[in-house]
Formats: sequence, structure tokens, C-alpha cells
Amino acid sequence: MIRKKLIAGNWKMNKTSGEAADLVKDIVAEVGRSNDVDVVVCPPFTSLESVGKALDGSSIKLGAQNMHPERSGAYTGEVSAEMLRSLFASYVILGHSERRTYFGDTDAFVNQKVTAALKAELKPILCVGETLAEREAGSTLKVVQTQLEAGLEGVTKEQATSVVIAYEPVWAIGTGKVATTEQAQEVHAFIRDLLGKLFTPAVAGKMRILYGGSMKPSNAPELLAQTDIDGGLIGGAALEARSFVDLINAAA
Ligand code: G3P
Repeated sequence: MIRKKLIAGNWKMNKTSGEAADLVKDIVAEVGRSNDVDVVVCPPFTSLESVGKALDGSSIKLGAQNMHPERSGAYTGEVSAEMLRSLFASYVILGHSERRTYFGDTDAFVNQKVTAALKAELKPILCVGETLAEREAGSTLKVVQTQLEAGLEGVTKEQATSVVIAYEPVWAIGTGKVATTEQAQEVHAFIRDLLGKLFTPAVAGKMRILYGGSMKPSNAPELLAQTDIDGGLIGGAALEARSFVDLINAAA
């Protein structure tokens, strides 16, 4: 099963609207309409419009970093799937560990967002991953299994191929500590096997599982060569055109 690699940039709370457009213009200038790798950039909500315009005519897709499951209503500070679609976003990161840790996103709430995103034809990038304490306690696979089973509840096998999974060990995010290729591949293979049980092995074979956590041009080739690593969800190295383009090239 050949899965097209996907490189997604999670810009987190960085870049004003103008800075974001400048960054994406530099990326587009190098990547243009290359179709070897799927590329997604996920700026903050406030930059979706300027980045969307700068992406016009390129093959790079636009994604958001979060959404609320309801269509509209009294949810101060929140943004719905329809609002994201209206700005031509096609992906949305859900269940990132920073949201789980700092903003109380539970597995059940993440699941509501995943199903609402799919209904609105947004592709969820569902993030899962263990903390350092959980890894040291030997519960990595259990934690990942719980997050995946809960996060994907009610998702049909027809919808599942639109879902991207991102395995992000929390201890590797922004710390410079990258998981070894063996650690990452072990969890990715486990995730694929679990997806095979939740859906079918054929569906699981089509689903992309990204690695996230201190991925950079120097460590990407080895990670991306692993059987079950289908791309990367990139934080820090996505904030600079050179390193992001080098990561895209590493996946080609
Ligand atoms: O979502 C991407 C992420 O959390 C990884 O961040 O800065 O370690 O690449 P970073």
C-alpha cells in the first residue's frame, strides 16, 4: 500500500496575519504545485484568510488548529467548522496535547469535534501521544489506544480514510528530544493495527499516520523511512521557510 506522504505545519500561536502571508509566500515560491507530497499549513485563526489568499493557485492546503463542534451559538471565542470551510480550510488539527493540557480538551470533546469536522467535510488531524511519566510507567500503548478509541468513536470506515492521525509523544514536543525511529515505528505500527481493528485492515492501510515532536530536516529522513510513518506534523521547524521546505523535500 503506497500512501502519499503528508507534511503539515502547526504554527501554534505564532505570526501575525502579514507575517504568516510572507512565510507562506516563501514556501509557495519553492514548492509551488509539486504533487509528490501533500503539504498543509495550519496558521492561527487570525491568519487563515491571508494565508489562504497567498496559497491561491498552489497545491498546498490550508488547515486550522482547533474548532468547536457546534455550528453556531453562544460560545465566546470559538470558531465552527463552517467558519473554517468558508475560509477554504480543508484540514483541522484536533486533540493536540497543548489543547488537552492547557485548555481541558477531553477525549469526549475531541471526539465531538472529530465527528463535526467530518460532517462539514474537514479532514481531522487527530493527535494522540503519551507524557514522559506515562512512557516511563510503560503505559504508552494503552494511553494511545484510549485516545484513539475515544477520539474515533462513531467514525465510519467510509469517513476514516479522511482522518489523519498524528502520534506526538508529549515529551518530544518543542523539547529537541525526538523519539528514536524504533520508538516511533513501534507506536505507529500499533496505531495501524488498532485502526485495522476499529475499521478494516484495508482502511487502515490507506490512513496516514504522522509523527510529531522535534522533527527537523536532520532527523526526518530516518523517521520518514519507517514503514508506518507517513509524514510529519511540524511545530518549530515549520516557522521558517527553509526548514519547512527541506522537510517537504525529505518526504518526496
Ligand atoms: O503539532 C506539532 C508539534 O506539537 C511538534 O512541535 O516544535 O516539537 O516540532 P515541535
